[in-house]
Amino acid sequence: MTLGSHQTSIGKSQVHLTPRWLLDQLGPFDLDPCAATVRPWDCAAENYVEAIDGLAQPWKGLVWLNPPFDRRLIGRWLAKLAEHGQGIALVHARTETAWFRQIWTGADLILFLGHRVNFLRPDGSAQPANSGAPIALAGYGEGANRLRNSDLPGTLVTEWAA
Ligand SMILES: C[S@@+](CC[C@H](N)C(=O)[O-])C[C@H]1O[C@@H](n2cnc3c(N)ncnc32)[C@H](O)[C@@H]1O
Repeated sequence: MTLGSHQTSIGKSQVHLTPRWLLDQLGPFDLDPCAATVRPWDCAAENYVEAIDGLAQPWKGLVWLNPPFDRRLIGRWLAKLAEHGQGIALVHARTETAWFRQIWTGADLILFLGHRVNFLRPDGSAQPANSGAPIALAGYGEGANRLRNSDLPGTLVTEWAA
């Protein structure tokens, strides 16, 4: 899948699950507010699925946010994490988009991964195509500390003019 088709998908599959190695590096997390309904493992202790709409629920603790890639809605997920102030968001490094402004204005730091990522299918197998673009991990509160202390290869950006 290309970046374009992934990022602009509206009404298409949004199930691009986080690889285990990322969760092992950065977890554990208290809440995944947009968990896959069918998933190989839980990304967090508590999991909100689409049927209960994680955007409409109260968030608690350290949040793992790999949001649905609907460009009409992704900014709302990121704004809610910024307001919550504790967690990590995984997004494509589309730094020029309107929705990425939620990260520029709300995150404490950003780790730009040095390579692309193969997301997973609901059965835990890797998607054949990689993410099609670099990945950014935005840290908030304790989430920023987790990124700072991780061994993930990439570039850690801690200061910028928003
Ligand atoms: C990119 S996947 C990430 C899944 C999981 N959080 C992970 O990191 O592996 C986004 C998921 O959000 C779910 N989703 C979409 N809209 C949602 C909503 N309003 N509330 C909760 N989950 C939702 C989809 O079912 C999809 O599995």
